[in-house]
Amino acid sequence: MRIGILGSGLMGAKLGTIFARAGHDVVFSYSRSTKKLEKLARDSGPTASAGTPAQAAQNADAVLVAVHWSRIDDLLKQAGGLARTVAITCSLPMNADDSALIVAHTSSGAEELAKKAPRARIVSAFGTVPSEVLFSVFERRRRKNRPSLLYSGDDAKAKRVAAKLISDVGFEPIDAGPLRIARYTEPFTLAVAQLAYEGDRGPALAYRFEWSRESKG
Ligand SMILES: NC(=O)c1ccc[n+]([C@@H]2O[C@H](COP(=O)([O-])OP(=O)(O)OC[C@H]3O[C@@H](n4cnc5c(N)ncnc54)[C@H](OP(=O)(O)O)[C@@H]3O)[C@@H](O)[C@H]2O)c1
Repeated sequence: MRIGILGSGLMGAKLGTIFARAGHDVVFSYSRSTKKLEKLARDSGPTASAGTPAQAAQNADAVLVAVHWSRIDDLLKQAGGLARTVAITCSLPMNADDSALIVAHTSSGAEELAKKAPRARIVSAFGTVPSEVLFSVFERRRRKNRPSLLYSGDDAKAKRVAAKLISDVGFEPIDAGPLRIARYTEPFTLAVAQLAYEGDRGPALAYRFEWSRESKG
């Protein structure tokens, strides 16, 4: 697949690197430093390059939206609205100092993004784990019991693309249902972040859902 990375910070840089290592074509974009984007592309191998958000979105099978909530409008302007594009968002609707969600319970960042980019095919994914765990999940992707990763969306085809990428990174994709479920998964991330950054076991943390045999009836 050809994947555009819109926001090449902690999440975008790591996920883009992993997507490239998994064999996808990746375009890193939306950093304040062109040099950083070029280095990320070099370090990620021959299938990666650096570009503008518009270049990253052009002909992309999927884009990853990985910017601070305050940058969303600017990003969409630069990327060109993302019409018909599968847009996987890990961006949480946090306030300026990242201390609280500014959208929650009755809506979500993913749903607000869908309103801002009504022709994009939005999937909420990757936002429920800290960036610190991504490389180790990828390195251990051949293990039997993979960590789970929740995703949600309203477009079945876009969700299949997201599930493939989630699986390529090394997680077990768990379909949490329609996009509105992001209003529950986004706050869940704050509980994960509390464990990751305030707990005493470090931030390289993932989670796993298990169904007991009895649940099948
Ligand atoms: N970090 C995590 O563990 C984590 C986990 C779950 C969800 N999330 C969510 O994922 C999204 C991305 O998080 P992140 O930690 O990857 O963010 P980040 O490290 O701050 O990366 C954001 C990217 O946006 C770029 N950017 C371009 N113009 C900018 C400007 N004017 N001001 C600030 N940044 C600008 C940054 O550029 P530079 O390259 O120049 O910095 C960077 O590449 C956020 O919505 C966050 O809530 C993060």
